[in-house]
Amino acid sequence: MSQSNDKWSAEAYSKAAGFVPKLTTTVISYLSAQPTDKILDIGCGDGPLTAQIAASIPQGHILGLDASASFIQTAQENHTSQNCNFKLQDCRRIAECAEAVDGSWDKVFSNAALHWILREPSTRDAVFKDVYSALKPGGIFVFEMGGKGNVEAVHSTILSVLVANGYALSTARESCPWFFPSDTWMTRQLQKTGFEVEKCELEYRPTKCTPKSADGSGGLEGWIKLMGAEMLSVVEESKREDVVRQVCDVLETVVTREEDGSQYLNYVRLRAVARKA
Ligand SMILES: C[S@@+](CC[C@H](N)C(=O)[O-])C[C@H]1O[C@@H](n2cnc3c(N)ncnc32)[C@H](O)[C@@H]1O
Repeated sequence: MSQSNDKWSAEAYSKAAGFVPKLTTTVISYLSAQPTDKILDIGCGDGPLTAQIAASIPQGHILGLDASASFIQTAQENHTSQNCNFKLQDCRRIAECAEAVDGSWDKVFSNAALHWILREPSTRDAVFKDVYSALKPGGIFVFEMGGKGNVEAVHSTILSVLVANGYALSTARESCPWFFPSDTWMTRQLQKTGFEVEKCELEYRPTKCTPKSADGSGGLEGWIKLMGAEMLSVVEESKREDVVRQVCDVLETVVTREEDGSQYLNYVRLRAVARKA
């Protein structure tokens, strides 16, 4: 990711989506980290989850890879334990990182990142092949990502608002940064790569938005600005705030709960455990 394309900042992420590294009890239980495990974390972000895993593998080691220079810098500053390292790497091309694909890893882990990494159809096979190469025989690939139907209302609303503002549907679709596959697609893809699929499941998990900040960096608005940055980038800068407002206005009654005014996004998580034969 070039510096100019790097939308991530640890501050905006924690205000708009601080729940992402926290809502991980199930995928962490599937990882079942053992004290000596050597684990590769794909799309580690600013590293709180990577550091949490590092603490559970005192004689092991974890390497976090991410394409955001800003996130990798924050991760390196905040998480300095000896068995936890971070490296700037576009994970569409993991093989560029020789130590990552040397076949020595017990586990490859990923949380909330593969739906970005797998966006481009042409690079998908290579990602799975590289993860397979990274693992020892018998090693496991454990991940959670957005699955079919994830944040469907937000996704459709942004597309519709872009079209209502004069952008072609094809342009709006092209700008979407996510790939949310079904469990059927994922099972086939893992099997095609050579993995034995032990689990592959979808979970519907409505998720409460963070509180809205005065500067627009949290809440529904903050989520749309951060996670939907690529889709908003088709709009000229002077009109972007207005488009965000239109998206929030449409979503208001869809995502707000009557009992207390809280707002929920309908997350759908796709989780899998796949073993290298
Ligand atoms: C929602 S964050 C999740 C971060 C972290 N795993 C967590 O649970 O908090 C998504 C991450 O995917 C990373 N990402 C997106 N595309 C990527 C790519 N092509 N290669 C590596 N990382 C990528 C982003 O930089 C970001 O850190």
